[in-house]
Amino acid sequence: MRPFDRRRVILGVTGGIACYKSVTLARLLTQAGAAVDVILSRAAREFVGAITFEAVTGRPVAPEILAPGHALAHIRLARETDLVIVAPATADLLARAAQGRADDQLTAVLLATRAPVLVAPAMNDGMWSHVLVLQNAQVLRAIGHTVLDPDTGPLAFGEGIGPGRMPEPETILAHASRLLETSTVLAGRKVIVTAGPTREALDPVRFISNHSSGRMGVALAAAAWRRGADVTLVHGPLEVPLPVGVGCVRVHSTAEMREAVAAALPTADALIMAAAPADFGAATVSAQKLKKSGATPVIALEHTVDILESTRALRRPGAVIMGFALETTNIEAHAREKMQRKGLDFIVANDATEDGAGFGVDTNRVVILDARGGRDTPPLMPKTQLAEVLLDHVIAALGTAS
Ligand SMILES: Cc1cc2nc3c(=O)[nH]c(=O)nc-3n(C[C@H](O)[C@H](O)[C@H](O)COP(=O)(O)O)c2cc1C
Repeated sequence: MRPFDRRRVILGVTGGIACYKSVTLARLLTQAGAAVDVILSRAAREFVGAITFEAVTGRPVAPEILAPGHALAHIRLARETDLVIVAPATADLLARAAQGRADDQLTAVLLATRAPVLVAPAMNDGMWSHVLVLQNAQVLRAIGHTVLDPDTGPLAFGEGIGPGRMPEPETILAHASRLLETSTVLAGRKVIVTAGPTREALDPVRFISNHSSGRMGVALAAAAWRRGADVTLVHGPLEVPLPVGVGCVRVHSTAEMREAVAAALPTADALIMAAAPADFGAATVSAQKLKKSGATPVIALEHTVDILESTRALRRPGAVIMGFALETTNIEAHAREKMQRKGLDFIVANDATEDGAGFGVDTNRVVILDARGGRDTPPLMPKTQLAEVLLDHVIAALGTAS
C-alpha cells in the first residue's frame, strides 16, 4: 500500500504568496491517494480561490468556522484526519497557533486534532528572522509539530534572495509521507545506503564506470528515512534526484566511497550496499590526457578496493549488512559465495541480462538470500516497492539482532 492510500489529510493554506504552490501540493497529495480537505484562511482566499482547490482535490473546501449548517465541522475534520499540513504558514498563523488561539477554522482544527501536524512557514526573510517568529516556530516544535525550515531562494518580486521560501511541494509531500508512516521501527536507527556507480580515472578527462543509475539505492534511502531512520546516502553520480531528509555524501571513486562508508559504519545499525562501485581502475592514471593520435594505448587495470570486505572490522556487533550481486551467469551460486566471503546477512541477486531488471530501469526482479539459508523471490516490481520489501528483511533481522 502507498503511504497516502486511504488516508485523510487536511491542507491548511494561509495568506502568503506561496499559496500558488499549495495547489500543486493539493494535487500531489490527491494523486498519491489521499483524501484532501483544504482549509483556507480568510487571507488565503484573497490569493487563491476555493474552486481551484475543489477542482484539484475533488472535495469541497472546508467552510468558515461560524458558517450556519457546519457548526461542528472543526471537530469532525480534526477527528477524522490522519495528518494536518499547513503550507504556507504565515507569520500570523504561527503566532496564533503558538498562542493556542481558535479564531478561525484552521486554528480551531489545530487545537482539536491529535493527528501529527506538519508546518511549512513562508514569508519575507526579514519576517522569518524576527525573534518573535522564530520563537513561535520553536513553541510549535516543542509541542511536537514538525516545522520545516523555509528554503533559501528568490522571494517575492523585488525582494531578492533569502531564507523564507516555502519548500517545494515534493519536499513537503516527502515529509508528510514520513509522518504518516505507521511503522516507526527504524526510529533512532542509523542506516547507510550506497547508490550509483563510482568512476575510476584513466586520465584527467576519462574514466571507467558502469550503467548504474542509482534508482535502487535512492529508493532504499527514501524508504528507510520515511520509516524513521537517520539515513546517510553515500553516492556517485545519479540519474535521479536526491531523496528528501537524507544526509548525502557525494563520492567519485571506489576508494572515496570506501572512506565514506568506513567513516559512518562504526555507529550504523544497517548498511545496504546498493551502489555499483567500479571494480577495476587504471594501474597508473595518466597525468596528461591520453592522445587520440598515435598508437592505441594499452591500459593495465587493477582491482579497486572491496568496500564490504575492507570495512568488515568496522561493523558494529549486530549491524545488519545487505549486499547486492548483479550477475550474468550462475546467479544464485555466485551470490551465495559472495555473501559468505564478505560476511553479509543478506545478498540481493539479480540477472543483468533480464529485461526490466538491473541497471537503468525503474523495475527489478531479485532473489533475496540470507545467511541462514532463507530465500525470497519477490516478483518483478518497481524499485520503490522492492525497496520496501528489502527493508522489511533488514528490519526483521535488526529485530532479532538487538
Ligand atoms: C501581497 C501579500 C503577500 C503576503 N505574503 C505573506 C507571506 O508570504 N508570509 C506571511 O507570513 N505573510 C504574508 N502576507 C501578510 C498576510 O497575508 C497577513 O499577515 C494576513 O493577516 C495573514 O492571515 P492568515 O495567517 O490568517 O492567512 C502577505 C500580504 C500581502 C498583501
